[in-house]
Amino acid sequence: MRRLDQLLANLGYCSRREARDFLRAHGVRGGDGARLTQPALKVEAATVRIDGEPLDHPDGLLLLLHKPLGLVCSHDRREGPSVYDLLPPRWQQRNPGITSVGRLDKDTSGLLLLTDQTALVHRLTSPRHHVEKRYRATVDRDLPPGLGEVFAAGTLHLEGEDAPCLPARYEALGPREAFLTLTEGRYHQVRRMFAAAAGATVQTLHRDRFGPWGLDDLTAGQWRILPLDTWSETSTRT
Ligand code: URA
Repeated sequence: MRRLDQLLANLGYCSRREARDFLRAHGVRGGDGARLTQPALKVEAATVRIDGEPLDHPDGLLLLLHKPLGLVCSHDRREGPSVYDLLPPRWQQRNPGITSVGRLDKDTSGLLLLTDQTALVHRLTSPRHHVEKRYRATVDRDLPPGLGEVFAAGTLHLEGEDAPCLPARYEALGPREAFLTLTEGRYHQVRRMFAAAAGATVQTLHRDRFGPWGLDDLTAGQWRILPLDTWSETSTRT
């Protein structure tokens, strides 16, 4: 059971202070159909209806977004247009807030997960859990033979970092194009790995897989809601 004003505020309908007015302005009803007017009332979220509609994902959200180029994964307005601008305004008022599971650079497109579940963010980003992320990269020069072994060895050092990259899987798609599959997510990792191992500059970068998920038919800017319990499928090693 949760306090009604807290519940409405956490789901982004209004602030706690505005709850009384919100309850006057909307038909908010409990499981027995009775109108709820007292902000302090304790309610079962699953039974509440607002103007006939169930509450908007009261148990949390997990989204799969096809991130377009040019958007940042930051809540800081000063960094420019962000992936959060693609979401319904009410979701931006939720508490806990929605955050990305790791980040994609402004110049990277593709599969981005977003959630308000902190434990899930940790689970999906911690290298300990070996969740695979696959990137498709094009580069500015022909990729040398033997690059797959270099990435697989787990000995590649990125500038300024002590620990070598974990083993990564490389699949050449053409002389200047490849898939690279990682189980960690360091800053600009794919770009830095191609630079370190091949002296190559990544020109386009797109993530098409994250754990068990693919983009399927989502076009850039579109997202879909994933069931919160699907993520347990990504559990591999602990
Ligand atoms: N590696 C990068 O260099 N950029 C990304 O956005 C993701 C992985």
